[in-house]
Amino acid sequence: MSKRFYVTTAIDYVNGQPHLGHAYEKVITDVIARSHRAMGEETFFLTGTDEHGQKVQQAALAAGKTPQEYCDELAAIWQALAGRLGLSNDDFIRTTDPRHEAIIQAILAKLEQNGDFYQAPYHGYYSAKEETFLTEKDRREDGTFDPMWGPVTELVEENYYFRMGRHQQWLIDHLEANPDFVAPSYRRNEVLGFLRNNTLEDLCITRPKERLSWGIPLPFAPDYITYVWFDALVNYASLPGLRGDPVVIEALGPWLPQDGAFAPNPDLQLWPADIHVIGKDILKFHAVYWPIMLKAMGLPLPRQVLAHGWWQKDDERMSKTTGNVVDPIAVIEEWGLDAFRYYVTRELDIGPDGNWTDAGFAARYHAELANGLGNLVNRSLSMLNRYRQGIVPPPHDELRADVTSAVATVEGLLRGHSLQAALIAIWRLIDRVNQYVDQTAPFKLAKDAAQAGRLDEVLYNLAESCRILAVLLWPFLPETAGKIFAQLGLADTPDRWELSQWGGLAAGHQANKPVPLFPRRDQPAA
Ligand code: ME8
Ligand code: MG
Repeated sequence: MSKRFYVTTAIDYVNGQPHLGHAYEKVITDVIARSHRAMGEETFFLTGTDEHGQKVQQAALAAGKTPQEYCDELAAIWQALAGRLGLSNDDFIRTTDPRHEAIIQAILAKLEQNGDFYQAPYHGYYSAKEETFLTEKDRREDGTFDPMWGPVTELVEENYYFRMGRHQQWLIDHLEANPDFVAPSYRRNEVLGFLRNNTLEDLCITRPKERLSWGIPLPFAPDYITYVWFDALVNYASLPGLRGDPVVIEALGPWLPQDGAFAPNPDLQLWPADIHVIGKDILKFHAVYWPIMLKAMGLPLPRQVLAHGWWQKDDERMSKTTGNVVDPIAVIEEWGLDAFRYYVTRELDIGPDGNWTDAGFAARYHAELANGLGNLVNRSLSMLNRYRQGIVPPPHDELRADVTSAVATVEGLLRGHSLQAALIAIWRLIDRVNQYVDQTAPFKLAKDAAQAGRLDEVLYNLAESCRILAVLLWPFLPETAGKIFAQLGLADTPDRWELSQWGGLAAGHQANKPVPLFPRRDQPAA
């Protein structure tokens, strides 16, 4: 077996309810995973929940529950979200999984033995909201901390530190030698600028147990609890490890429990990750701390950290307190899963910030999904049914060149993870085929018996174009792609790129009747 394409999302803090930002990240990662699978690559897609730390401990206390009870309830909500989003994830990691905890302890023991840690007094500040240590340097001109940190508390306590300074130069070299290590390139420049202009400070990696009990104790100093970010980042490697990835098992071998629970499985080669998809706010953790942790652990670095932008709603930050949030589940219930997946991927390229408006959503739904794609499939299949009882005429090549060139374009864009551009290219093809209907006017041809042969040609080109569109759409809109295949009377699933070859529909094949894919939902006139 060879190494699989391995893609991950950030793992979400379980306190609170999922919103648009979380759902967006999971959907774009799912599109990447599905497109790699469609192109024949063995793929593994991991998502999950980040369950330790101050913030979750506080939320559990406020809810009158034990942290474990609280996490179990919330994790169920987040797992359900993955289902509602149609994610094709291969596993779902929870950082409270005892096997993850065993791996964290193995890593800590190895690093302690290698001299990566030391103990020293900590005097500084802590943002529970972002689970981040802050120092005097993080104060603004007027002495306050940015509101993004939420309430900031002063800490005076003994802690363990991870030596970072010795890693600064090789990391700069790595970023310089691997221009794709952080994408988009402006995010890479941010990381390089940070590393070139600052001296990396040692990272505080614990909290004393009497201050924070909800987490993983240091194996060599059980009165200290592992800093939640150290615990959370490791999920990307611990999940492969607990499923037997030989690379991870080998790096941690002697430090892992020797009870046979971590037997290598040569069929599961995941590490190193190919892409970590994350939001821009947690770039430093992924592009600075994580590579350094991996180097210290003796594991290869991931190939890419892909940072997406942040969503606002109506040009304002989403906030539970003001009620300015987009609830992905409510949108899916009202408009359907694929409408949600389409809007977020089409509206926002991976990188810049985005803005959700309900009007913008409805506009794309009607113009692009209902009128563009839905109408094309609907009229192609209704004419095939009306004029030919749903029986596919002999193959004809009039749209072959247009479709084939669109397939090549979309394939290239998907390989480069340019999801928005791929959708734009798919819709250019949809527009072209809709225009073909207008130009060839099959409803007129049908009135003239002498044009029967020409009508056959047009109907073939339409049905075959719809079939191939389903294959192109599959990574983005799996439900819709499946419906198009079903309406065409195809028992197969459009999940393999090889199905995008022109000429797949055979003469005499019986198609079904169309059912509207995206019913119009216009508001009654005011
Ligand atoms: O940061 N728009 O968890 P989290 C787009 N547990 N993306 C958004 C967003 C928005 N408005 N709000 C949040 C954490 N996100 C850690 C991660 S990974 C080892 C640990 C994204 O629940 C955010 O950028 O605060 C992050 O990638 C993800 O949602 C989870 O955020
Ligand atoms: Mg956050």
